[in-house]
Amino acid sequence: MQLLDDLLRKRVFPADLERYCTDAMERAGLPRDAAAVSARVLATTDSWGIHTHGTRQIRQLLKNVRDGRIDAAARASVAAEGAAFAILDGNHAMPIVTACTAMELAIRKAREVGIAYVGVKRSSHIGAAGYYATMALPHDMVGMATTNTDPWMTVPGGKGPIMGTNPIAYAIPAGTERPIFLDIATSSVAVTKILAAKALGKRLPEKWLVDDAGQPTDDPTNYPAQGALLPMAGHKGYGLAVLVETLTAMIPGAAFLSGVKCWAFDIPDKANQGHAFLAINVGAMTPLAEFKARMDAMIREIKGAPKTADGRIYLPGEMEWERQERAQREGIALPDYVLVNLVGLAEDTGTQEALAAAFR
Ligand SMILES: NC(=O)c1ccc[n+]([C@@H]2O[C@H](COP(=O)([O-])OP(=O)(O)OC[C@H]3O[C@@H](n4cnc5c(N)ncnc54)[C@H](O)[C@@H]3O)[C@@H](O)[C@H]2O)c1
Repeated sequence: MQLLDDLLRKRVFPADLERYCTDAMERAGLPRDAAAVSARVLATTDSWGIHTHGTRQIRQLLKNVRDGRIDAAARASVAAEGAAFAILDGNHAMPIVTACTAMELAIRKAREVGIAYVGVKRSSHIGAAGYYATMALPHDMVGMATTNTDPWMTVPGGKGPIMGTNPIAYAIPAGTERPIFLDIATSSVAVTKILAAKALGKRLPEKWLVDDAGQPTDDPTNYPAQGALLPMAGHKGYGLAVLVETLTAMIPGAAFLSGVKCWAFDIPDKANQGHAFLAINVGAMTPLAEFKARMDAMIREIKGAPKTADGRIYLPGEMEWERQERAQREGIALPDYVLVNLVGLAEDTGTQEALAAAFR
């Protein structure tokens, strides 16, 4: 554990983290391009401070490859297509690569026809939905990204896990202000936050969970064997999760609800998750400069609104952009639960020296 102790005292720059993860995944047998895309998405997610869904997840993704649940050599293919839509068959390929391919396709189509939807079937875990939404920003488009998951969340009037945590992310370009960027589960929180509290022996700060009887609890001890997550804001999160299930599974033809198999469990079944991506080419609909000026005005009005005594108003994404700017300047101090996984990845792939060299 000497390596872990050393890394706990150091920081890593996003570019160095990305380079190390690319090399380690290639050493583990992934094609270089799939390794590079996966590393870019996961290291960027860490740079935003969303560590639960960053490079920590590489080890589990590689286990899925070893177990034959993900086919690292496969690529997504087009199953159906029109001017403003496509359905991709993920072919159980590296899911992060598939998601990038799908969002790139949505952007290409939106450039031609103004707006495009791309649904994906037969895929697996894509990490934070946010990355794919932000891919629209350099193209001056609004991006949306979403995925279904295996069931972790109950619904009003029900008990036990019924629906996935079905995250929704969007990104909106602005002018001189930072883009707006929201990335949230439709459950009270992402599952990983409950598991992190459980691992640390902590009570939950809020009632995010219900027990087996459907009663709210702040005790994660028996989770996930018992209980389920609550939807975000009750019927509202539940309602949005149903929309996500429709866009990601019912339209593309992916598995839905209990048909989705957890990518993180030690089971042979392929996950068969579905995803959906949307690109809106604002400039095709309204003068872009005017739109951006209006976005800036909206952002400034929100930020300039009256505040509580010690209050600060954030726009969605502002915290992530600030963390990313700091990560570029000073490097990232990765939390212990991420470092444990990276050290494990280094041991699996014989890349301990390279991991140590990536940190300063
Ligand atoms: N792939 C999957 O299976 C899966 C499933 C569920 C969640 N997730 C991911 O988990 C991550 C965390 O989800 P979560 O629901 O716990 O997120 P969260 O509750 O931490 O919310 C984060 C979002 O809220 C915004 N935000 C936070 N505080 C704010 C404030 N005061 N004002 C304005 N905006 C604010 C942030 O900018 C960010 O966009 C996401 O990246 C999501 O995509 C992935």
